[in-house]
Amino acid sequence: MRIVSGIQPTGNLHLGNYLGAIRNWVKMQDEAAASGAQCLYFLADLHAISMPYDPADLTANTRGMVAALVACGIDPDRSILFNQSQVPQHAELQWLLNGTARMGWLNRMTQWKDKAGKNREGASVALFTYPVLQAADVLVHQATHVPVGDDQKQHLELARDIAQKFNNDFASEDAPVFTLPEPYILPEAARIMSLRNGSAKMSKSDPSDMSRINMTDDADTIMQKIKKAKTDPEPLPSDKGGLEGRPEAANLVGIYAALAEMTVGDVLAQFGGEGFGRFKPALGELVVEKLSPINARFLELREDRAALDAILHKGAEKARALAVPTLNKAYEALGLVRG
Ligand code: TYM
Repeated sequence: MRIVSGIQPTGNLHLGNYLGAIRNWVKMQDEAAASGAQCLYFLADLHAISMPYDPADLTANTRGMVAALVACGIDPDRSILFNQSQVPQHAELQWLLNGTARMGWLNRMTQWKDKAGKNREGASVALFTYPVLQAADVLVHQATHVPVGDDQKQHLELARDIAQKFNNDFASEDAPVFTLPEPYILPEAARIMSLRNGSAKMSKSDPSDMSRINMTDDADTIMQKIKKAKTDPEPLPSDKGGLEGRPEAANLVGIYAALAEMTVGDVLAQFGGEGFGRFKPALGELVVEKLSPINARFLELREDRAALDAILHKGAEKARALAVPTLNKAYEALGLVRG
């Protein structure tokens, strides 16, 4: 079993990333000793340059994201934690896969449509080919499982399509070059929504900081953001069906359930009939309780830049060693002379 996943170091790690993905990264790492799995987690810094950005911010956010991941429980001695650009085999394989990926497949990607918007002519080529790099990220390491939130599902289906077509076109059936990766998505927290708009996902790029809870927010900020979170005037229903058509209420109850590791039904059994005046403080306290140890550790870790760079250096070395044999197989399958 080979577990591979990535996160863009474009801003703060937020509660959506944590509940949708990072918490599963940690669980899979902790189970790896028993399952014999190898976990590789990386910062997708090459993906981060597909949209306008500030280089100094990217540098700072990359180190900050390493500190945040370690604070969440990723252990660089047990998992391989690295930066995508320090493992050039990812970008190299992307070029090889560009020959297999089809324009039509990329044109259908919802992230491309959303982020390019109406200005497709002005979007970067990197934004268009972004999913091919994402396919290379997982295929170069022969990933079997990829823990992600729901928004990455389409990109992983594309990675499977690319792997399948490459194997079909260039390898024999009994010796495929690439393993087909499985997305691993936990349904309860697959999509955490913005605190300001129940139909937009919580995102690093939302201009309003009030829309998300950052893993680095202090207790006062968290309580304040939850108090101000958009809701409706009705009390909470006593069963799940009553949340239909109430996206903001459903989101807050979902966050409570995910953090308390309860079902939505159990949360409603406890809070059904209560107004948000009672529910929001309870939710705020739960978020603070779960996040404050992570926050404290993050503040400590981010000070030691040399230690963060050493983690990335060691991780990249291990990741390169794992990637090279697959990359060589791909070159060979394509008939490229390596001398
Ligand atoms: P990114 O950086 O946007 O998000 C990192 C992880 O967090 C999940 N996530 C969420 N889950 C639930 N609710 C939300 N509101 C929410 N927002 C984000 C994402 O699904 C993701 O799992 N393209 C990827 C990074 C990437 C990658 C890869 C992932 C690059 N290569 C290879 C997996 C495998 C991205 O931008 O994630």
